[in-house]
Amino acid sequence: MKNRLKEIKNQAIIEINDAKTLEEIENIKVKFLGRKGELNTIRRGIKDLSPEEKPVIGDLANKIAGEIETKINEKHQALYKAEISEKLQSEKIDITLSGASKPFGTQHPLTSTINDIVSIFQGMGFSLVENINSPEVETEYYNFDALNFPPDHPAKDMQDTFYTLNAPNLLLRSQTSNSQIREMEKKSPPLRVISPGRVYRSEAVSSRKNNLFHQVEGFMVDKDVTFGDLKGILNEFTRQFFGQSRPTRFRTSFFPFTEPSVEIDVQCIMCQGKGCRTCSGTGWLEILGAGMIDPNVLKNINIDSDTYSGFAFGMGVERLAMLKYAINDIRLFFNNDVRFLEQF
Ligand code: PHE
Repeated sequence: MKNRLKEIKNQAIIEINDAKTLEEIENIKVKFLGRKGELNTIRRGIKDLSPEEKPVIGDLANKIAGEIETKINEKHQALYKAEISEKLQSEKIDITLSGASKPFGTQHPLTSTINDIVSIFQGMGFSLVENINSPEVETEYYNFDALNFPPDHPAKDMQDTFYTLNAPNLLLRSQTSNSQIREMEKKSPPLRVISPGRVYRSEAVSSRKNNLFHQVEGFMVDKDVTFGDLKGILNEFTRQFFGQSRPTRFRTSFFPFTEPSVEIDVQCIMCQGKGCRTCSGTGWLEILGAGMIDPNVLKNINIDSDTYSGFAFGMGVERLAMLKYAINDIRLFFNNDVRFLEQF
């Protein structure tokens, strides 16, 4: 019996030493110390031994079981440590490697230009009217007739304006001036309104012209509004938008819905006024049309033109952005080339 116990111990020690994984050590534990193991069978048989043998074999069995357990625990510890350090090694993170960066989007230069324009005018007491109040698909009445365009005006021609095929009087608005009529129909003076949006013209696309572009319309109607107010407000706008030192000039012009009418030119940023391709050699680029609202327009919407007067303006957003950021081709705004867009 004693010999058998010693054999069991030796066998266990050999197997423990040979074990290479935690799983193997678990199996060895079951095999030697488990309920069905030989050691346990011997211990269960002790009660049948002679009174002299009982304590001797009992002690020896306990001692051997204890020794085997200690060995198993030691080996378990050692294997566990080895496994952990191997894991740490293989799952090591190199924190000095640079991360995978996600590109950030930026605001489109036209959006930020519109926001800049709007906030300058809001600072002068104008309120923003959302695009939804002056539709891009518009009737001939709001785009032309109510704005005092005579029936045979060349701008109404199919060559300049996109008409819809289905409804004869429906068109894509060629100017944001429809918002003047739409707003004045709804609200009565005093009014100070700013209204940005898209407009469409049937023109040959070039570095300076696109079929789709953006305008910001603005107008003010009140008692005693004069041409001096128009000049003061638009000068203040160009000063804030371009800075004090950029030369600008007023030029007389004509629009059916304003009298007198003017245009404002800004010195070309590409050539500093010397003349280049972008400004067709003139040194200047037009940024807006404006004027005192024609009494006929006020009459069309039942505003008493003896009591009230006003001025209106419409500025080209692309032109303003080109002149501010030195962009020499309008098409860049619409090509969605990230190399261009990420500069803003
Ligand atoms: N609607 C004109 C254009 O598109 C600009 C303008 C607006 C002129 C308001 C006068 C007053 O050219």
